[in-house]
Amino acid sequence: MAVPRHVAIIMDGNGRWAKKRMLPRIAGHRKGIEAARNVTRAAGDLGIEVLTLYAFSTENWRRPAEEVSDLMGLLRHFIQTDIEELAQNGVRLRIIGNYKALAPDLVALIDDAIERTAQNSRTTLVIALNYGSQAELVSVMRDVAQRARDGKLDPAAIDEAMIDNLLDTHGLPPPDLLIRTSGEQRLSNFMLWQLAYAELLFVDTLWPDFGAQSLADAVADYGARERRFGGL
Ligand code: FPP
Repeated sequence: MAVPRHVAIIMDGNGRWAKKRMLPRIAGHRKGIEAARNVTRAAGDLGIEVLTLYAFSTENWRRPAEEVSDLMGLLRHFIQTDIEELAQNGVRLRIIGNYKALAPDLVALIDDAIERTAQNSRTTLVIALNYGSQAELVSVMRDVAQRARDGKLDPAAIDEAMIDNLLDTHGLPPPDLLIRTSGEQRLSNFMLWQLAYAELLFVDTLWPDFGAQSLADAVADYGARERRFGGL
């Protein structure tokens, strides 16, 4: 059965998971980190090459300051505690999004984690942090326009491969499968260019309840689909 090379996940439903249990939202996010950890391990076991997790969007800054700060704290903790295991399990860390705009100590931790795992090749874990697909595309367009204005680029030479190479995801295969949890059916400004031919799977499971078996089920669902890429 075909295993997707690249699975991208919009992890949704942490807040609702907590609310159902009358817990604060942070408890849902904490459980969400655990789910991310389990799913990362499972991805390696299933032979998935790239796993992309949407952890924080450019729009998430609109949440109350306390929640933003809680999320950043959890992320800091995740990088600190999990990097060793990730490094030993052949996971290479990559970030998409403008993470350099985050707190300097967090940026340093992330850069260190990227460097420490750079030689790994079993699974690539891509965390989308301060990521928005439209902002990513605007940055590519600015870059291309600047080169054209400088006379270094003939507009006729712009093609899909050139754009691919300028995106944060350069060098990665495009997602074959996009999963969104918690029953919402939206892309929420996530990888709009990269998802052009992805299979979409929306599941009702809230992210904290999504585990290794859920990922295996999603991969089985993907395996049963017929992809045509616009052909017959
Ligand atoms: C959605 O739940 C989830 C997020 C805003 C992202 C937070 C993700 C995690 C804490 C997992 C982090 C993973 C890594 C790899 C660091 P929500 O708050 O939107 O839920 P709701 O829609 O039910 O309120």
